[in-house]
Parts: sequence; structure tokens; C-alpha cells
Amino acid sequence: MADRKTVFRCQQCGYVSPKWLGRCPDCKSWESLVEEVSYKSSEKELATGNPQNRPVALADIPAETEPRLLSGIGEWDRVLGGGLIAGSLVLLAGDPGIGKSTLLLQVLARLSQEKRVLYASGEESPQQLKVRALRLGVESPNLFVYSETSLEAVLDAVAQKPPHILVVDSIQTVHTRALEVAPGSVSQVRECASRLMRAAKETGVSIFVVGHVTKEGSIAGPRALEHLVDTVLYLEGDRTHTFRLLRAVKNRYGSTNEVGVFEMKEVGLEQVPNPSKLLLAERPKGVSGSVVACAVEGTRPLLVELQALVSATSWLQPRRTSMGVDSNRLSLLLAVLEKKLGLNFAQQDVFVNVAGGVRLVEPATDLAMTTALLSTYLDRPLPPEWVVWGEVGLAGEVRGVGHSSVRALEAQKLGFTRCLIPRSNAERLSPELEIECVGVKSLQDVMQLLF
Ligand SMILES: Nc1ncnc2c1ncn2[C@@H]1O[C@H](COP(=O)(O)OP(=O)(O)OP(=O)(O)O)[C@@H](O)[C@H]1O
Ligand SMILES: [Mg+2]
Repeated sequence: MADRKTVFRCQQCGYVSPKWLGRCPDCKSWESLVEEVSYKSSEKELATGNPQNRPVALADIPAETEPRLLSGIGEWDRVLGGGLIAGSLVLLAGDPGIGKSTLLLQVLARLSQEKRVLYASGEESPQQLKVRALRLGVESPNLFVYSETSLEAVLDAVAQKPPHILVVDSIQTVHTRALEVAPGSVSQVRECASRLMRAAKETGVSIFVVGHVTKEGSIAGPRALEHLVDTVLYLEGDRTHTFRLLRAVKNRYGSTNEVGVFEMKEVGLEQVPNPSKLLLAERPKGVSGSVVACAVEGTRPLLVELQALVSATSWLQPRRTSMGVDSNRLSLLLAVLEKKLGLNFAQQDVFVNVAGGVRLVEPATDLAMTTALLSTYLDRPLPPEWVVWGEVGLAGEVRGVGHSSVRALEAQKLGFTRCLIPRSNAERLSPELEIECVGVKSLQDVMQLLF
């Protein structure tokens, strides 16, 4: 059988060394050597490979697959692409304390009504898990918890009595005996994840792995896991707000950029079927700088309030602060406004915020941001019945974006009566919409129309 030993491999160039070095002697990069397990196969094994494994014709593979597992929590099932696939490895990542364990426990409670579930936690004792389960009202005879940090022990438990679903919370706390480095290091995390992946594919157990996002925003080092797993879900949100967004950033079995919306409550995470309504609940009316934008996350439209504030600076270098939108995008739009409409932000601090702690990544929010900036700069409030979307180019032109009818319908549903949108979109909208859609071609049009 394979003989195991550990080596140190340079992550930049692949140089292998028997001991750790601070600098790779080959490519000269610093601190790039990471410990790995190297399996030394016998000569014969190398020559023949696995004799059982042969190429098969795609046509001969039975189309019959196990049905996807539905938890009944609509937002969760949708983000997974319509339920959980047997034998898949799903990474649930997020900031510490954002609610990963809570969400998983709630989902598992539903799934374990029919399936056997093993929840291996390296972070909490069975008592602590029980306290959470009581708070969430989770009760199931098929849900087993296992407080363990050794990957071998967890895999043994799986082999002895295979569950349908296994959870490892979190990948940073488990470790394999094969490596002598501390749990949470890149090599441990990667080795544990690849062992779990193999287990998932060989046994058909669906595995959830929880991962903490480190300060740099990547999961345990340089996105060490994302390429390895089938699906990557991010649970995000501002910890000071109760909103949580569940985002699929990679999915081998479904669409990415799908988003589920939850609200953190005493009894756990609750689905928010109509997030736009909740997000707009506290919107002030008749205030300058406040604009309702419509973003589309995956297939679902989201109406959010975008606020901008411009005020005279007392600094040499004026401040540009953006929360929930890209700061580069803000600088770009400010430059366009200066150049094309002759506004002057040189002596002004500029702040942009998206209410509710939501993060807007679409360029379709450009027009709303520009309108909010114009509104606060001129100190002229936008009438409250408007919803705004569209992309803004460097020449000050307003460009069309996708999903315009979805956005218009959402705005109509929430009682808005007018949309400010790119002209190219307005021309192609269905005439059956009751909401009035005003098309604009450039920022000059916006200025004339609204201010
Ligand atoms: N009694 C409570 N009422 C309301 N919210 C609570 C209550 N207890 C916990 N929470 C919420 O649950 C969050 C912690 O959830 P959870 O432990 O699932 O997060 P996590 O992402 O698994 O954290 P960690 O990174 O520590 O594993 C807290 O930040 C808090 O918002
Ligand atoms: Mg946790």
C-alpha cells in the first residue's frame, strides 16, 4: 500500500523540499512552502493504475440519479440550485458569528426528518449544541452530534454507520494526523477538505463544511478551498443589522449569483419572502440624497434605499466613503458628474451608504447612485414614487441593463408608480406594465427630468 510521508511544496512554482524553508530556492518567493502529504505508491501500482476503473460511454451512464433533497426552507433550496445533491461537498463560509451554525442546524433539523444526519463540531460541546438546538426549537431523533476535531475519527464514525448528510463545523478546527502542522493552516485545511471530497464521492454522503472567512476575506488562506468543493455558499451581512444574505458564488449543480434572504431573530434565521418591503420600511420621504435602487441578485429583484451625502470638507484631501457599493465605482461616477455636468466635488466629502447593510455589486446601481449624488449635491429631494436603475458610462451615457421587466414588476408590486431607466430598456418593456417607465439616454436627461 501507499507509504505516506510529508513534504514541503512551494505554492508558486511546485518546488519540493523535505524540510521547511523560509524562501523557495527555485523561484525565490518568500514563505511559499506549505506542508503536504505525499503518497509514495509502489512501482506496480503506478504502472497499472486502478484496474477496476475504466472509461465509460456517456450514453451508458444511467440518467437515473437520486432526487435532490429539499429542506422546505425555500430560500436555502433555491440557493443550492433546487435542493441538495447526494454526494456533493458544500462549503458554507462567512464571518465569525454571522450565523453559519444556526442556519445549518435549522436546515439539518428539516432534512433529518427523513435522513440520518451527523453533525461533527470541533468548536462546540454537545451541551452547547443542545442549548442552541433548544433555542431554535430543533428536535429530531435522526440528528446526531459529535464533538470531535480529528478528521480520522469523524471519517470512522461515517464508515461505521453512514449518515446521509455529514456536517463538519468548521474545517479550520479539524485536523488530520497525516500532517503535523496546526489545525487551520492552509495545508491542514486543504488536506482535510480533499479527504472529505473523496469520502463524499466514494460513499455518496452529502457533506457540508463550514469555513471562516479570514481577515483578508478569503477562506483559510488564498481561497484554498473554493476550487476543491462542488458548491460555495457565503453567508454575509452586517453584524449590526439583522439581515443575512446567503449567496452561491460557485455551484456545480445550479446557477450562481442566486441569493437567499434571511433575518436573524431570537429563534434563528427566518426567511424573508419580501425583502424589498422590509428594506424600504424605514425610508425617510422628501429627504435629499435618498434614492430607491433596484438590484437583481440571481433571479430576484431587490429594492433598496441608496443614500448619499455631500458636505463641505475640512480636510486637505476630501473623503470618499462608501458602504455597500464599490468605492472605485463611486470615484468613477464622481468624475463623470464633474466632467459631464460640471459639478465640483473637489472641496466636498462624499458618503454613500446602502440601507440595511446590503452590498450592491451590479453596475445597474450606477444610475441610482448618480441620482442620489445629484440630489444631495443640489439639495433637492427626489419625489418618493421613483425607482431608479441603469448603468452609467464614462461619457455620461446611460446604458441598458438586464432583467428590466423583473425590476419594473417588483417596483410596481411595492406601490411605486415611476421608474427612471435606460432608454434602450424602456423601449423594450412590455406595454402591459402599469408602472410608468421613463427612459433616459444621458446624465443631462436625468438632470433635466428630475432637477
Ligand atoms: N438569543 C439570541 N437572540 C438573537 N440572536 C442570537 C441569540 N443567540 C445568538 N444569536 C445570534 O446568532 C449569532 C451566532 O450564530 P452562530 O453561532 O450560528 O454563528 P457562526 O457563524 O456559527 O459563529 P462561529 O463563527 O462562532 O461558529 C450571533 O451573532 C447572534 O447574532
Ligand atoms: Mg459556528
